[in-house]
Amino acid sequence: MTRKIFLSEKDMPRQWYNIAADLPTPLQPPLGPDGHPITPDMLAPVFPMNLIEQEVSTDRWIDIPEDVLDKLAIWRPSPLYRATGLEAALGCPVKIYYKNEGVSPAGSHKPNTSIPQAYYNKVFGIKKLTTETGAGQWGSALSMACAMYGLECKVFMVRISFEQKPFRKLLMAAWGGTCVPSPSQETQAGRDVLAKFPDTPGSLGIAISEAIEAAVQNDDTRYSLGSVLNHVMLHQTIIGLEAKKQMEIAGDYPDVIIGCAGGGSNFAGLAFPYALDKINGKDIDIIPVEPAACPTLTRAPFVYDHGDLAKMTPLLPMHSLGHDFIPQPIHAGGLRYHGMAPLVSNLVQSGVFRPMSIHQTDCYKAALTWARCEGFISAPETAHALAAVVREALKAKEEGKEKTILFNWSGHGLMDLVGYDKYLSGELQDIEPSDAEMACGLSCLEGLPKPN
Ligand SMILES: Cc1ncc(COP(=O)(O)O)c(C=O)c1O
Repeated sequence: MTRKIFLSEKDMPRQWYNIAADLPTPLQPPLGPDGHPITPDMLAPVFPMNLIEQEVSTDRWIDIPEDVLDKLAIWRPSPLYRATGLEAALGCPVKIYYKNEGVSPAGSHKPNTSIPQAYYNKVFGIKKLTTETGAGQWGSALSMACAMYGLECKVFMVRISFEQKPFRKLLMAAWGGTCVPSPSQETQAGRDVLAKFPDTPGSLGIAISEAIEAAVQNDDTRYSLGSVLNHVMLHQTIIGLEAKKQMEIAGDYPDVIIGCAGGGSNFAGLAFPYALDKINGKDIDIIPVEPAACPTLTRAPFVYDHGDLAKMTPLLPMHSLGHDFIPQPIHAGGLRYHGMAPLVSNLVQSGVFRPMSIHQTDCYKAALTWARCEGFISAPETAHALAAVVREALKAKEEGKEKTILFNWSGHGLMDLVGYDKYLSGELQDIEPSDAEMACGLSCLEGLPKPN
């Protein structure tokens, strides 16, 4: 049996797929502070215009610049694997395939968008990028991309992850990036939070506020986001476009597609090209998986909310726990986000995706099973996808159905071993917000406009 399927560099997709062209219900616009749709020029202090054009585009296909293809080819096309070891260990009537996005130099899917984002900023004449990072994967990926395009890079890393994953900042430094824990004393947004909550573990919502504040102060600086926005989802579709070609070579088509979802980008990257098939009538179960500790899609409403704590971003139509919500410090730092990509939220609303939440101990259990039969050490975020794969395989066995599962192995966890240590020594807790904590987080939405 073939273990993995490679594509040659010449078979790499040359266009990204923009699902905004095919949504069953149109995306609602981002709104400004006055409740009216924002215009592209209002985003200009934050992003370069070439990326803003992608953000608002409804063209189905968008060309990938040659220079970007050249850099992506360092590790792309990524291999599609058949997880025969896991299949045997589970003894279920399933074939399990996965895209290995851990082969990128930074160890995850994140460089699929950091490279084009650095490219478009460079072409636009920008000298420095600022960003937030949760687990540190995005900060690493952007530091690497900035190094390749001769840009400075400043990363605000959620404090709890900064402490849990000390090697990530060294990795960023190796690529020339500067990383500080967030909240920091360097921005008004950070100082305000520290004054109120000096011991806060931080959150992506706070780090985003800091990074935007740091960007808008200088003409030659822009902000870069590693997930959530339409252009990020767009860049990640290279994963699913490659997977489709590879699954065709394998002679299979997935019944179930799974990816973990923090802001939604690795999931979207694999799922969107298949979501189009589902919109056109194919029967596929497409599952974004989130932590029970941060249940954005499974328990939070579809609302208009800000992407950050200090309300610097426009209001986005998305599932949200409320911009004030500070998720518990679980080890999957990249999934600790209060919101979700508007495109992913939209497709959950129209029933194209079926979200699922899982507790972290189930994820580590699945990650250890995986490590012991497939070898690779998974990022704690990726472990959420793994746990869902195990669930779906067992469900197929119970129902006596043969299934083909395709999932995104979004990154390796070689820098995340503290979480494994905590799990192995029995110290990890399963946590989820109570109804009262959910209501408290959502109370900050009062008075904001509602989506249709
Ligand atoms: C390995 C890995 N997977 C998944 C995620 C979640 O992000 P997204 O939902 O944008 O793919 C992250 C974020 O840091 C990550 O590092």
